[in-house]
Amino acid sequence: MEQRLVGKVAVVTGSSRGIGRGIAERLAGEGAKVVVNGRQPETVAAVAQALRADGAEVLAVPADVGLRAEVDRLFAETVASFGGVDILVNNVAWTGHRAHFLELDEAHWDTALGTNLKSAYLCAHRAANLMVDQGRAGSLIAISSFSAARAHRCLAAYDASKGGLEAFTRAIAVDLAPFGIRANVVGPGAIHTELHEQRGLAAARQRGATVPLGRVGMPADIAGAVAFLASDDAGYITGQVLYVDGGMLAQLRSPQVDDPLPPSVHARRRQPPGDPQPLRAWASGPVFPEYS
Ligand SMILES: NC(=O)c1ccc[n+]([C@@H]2O[C@H](COP(=O)([O-])OP(=O)(O)OC[C@H]3O[C@@H](n4cnc5c(N)ncnc54)[C@H](OP(=O)(O)O)[C@@H]3O)[C@@H](O)[C@H]2O)c1
Repeated sequence: MEQRLVGKVAVVTGSSRGIGRGIAERLAGEGAKVVVNGRQPETVAAVAQALRADGAEVLAVPADVGLRAEVDRLFAETVASFGGVDILVNNVAWTGHRAHFLELDEAHWDTALGTNLKSAYLCAHRAANLMVDQGRAGSLIAISSFSAARAHRCLAAYDASKGGLEAFTRAIAVDLAPFGIRANVVGPGAIHTELHEQRGLAAARQRGATVPLGRVGMPADIAGAVAFLASDDAGYITGQVLYVDGGMLAQLRSPQVDDPLPPSVHARRRQPPGDPQPLRAWASGPVFPEYS
């Protein structure tokens, strides 16, 4: 593996499993000192221990990054152990239960936006101030989703938070460019994590069937893009979104194309979808003469 990040300190939020863990492994593999985070102390400690066993320098900091005081503690412990921060990966997210917009309540909205978007502000704000005060040219990377560009069904708050993350990143990229701090987004497609592992191989194959590259992605696929953006190889890239989705956004088909409305919402629907009108009703002549 390349060693592009030797001497760098990387904070990866939500790295106690899933994509975040894959990112922490990759950044550590490229030589960075890594701060592992999540809310559960046991899982954070276990991942940190596994990375140390592979020879990495790792700090474990359990903290809820949706809360300012916890974020302040996360960065205070990082500075105390490693002296500062060069790379921040804002990875945590709350997807929660799916909720049709007609049934999406305020608590759901607040949790999604608080976990997914406010946490990114709190962490990036703290990290960028540290970088500027220490004269470090850092890299901020947010993990968004292809859902920032195309809608999931029944995940309006999650999708809004991801779209917000991308606009937020472009804005801070401009504000922080004079300080040599870059900010970019990696937008995963359908990625296989522990959660999906529990659902079995058939479910993974079905999930991968709508992906042009023919499979779901792995955390390592996302981690490779993050390591690139964190490294000097991406030294002239800022304010960008890099979708790592196996080609999903290059096509029209959605993985949830066949999802029906939830029964409670379907019952409230008065208008049938309706068939297309006959072409002759609105076209002045044969649109496709070969079929007329
Ligand atoms: N998997 C996919 O297919 C996919 C697709 C598109 C985008 N993404 C994005 O990729 C990122 C990672 O997704 P994932 O599937 O790997 O998620 P995941 O398996 O649910 O892992 C989430 C991680 O974040 C931690 N976490 C959650 N809330 C936190 C909080 N408030 N403070 C600190 N840590 C918190 C979790 O640990 P605790 O629960 O212990 O706190 C865990 O380590 C997310 O931004 C997600 O939106 C994923």
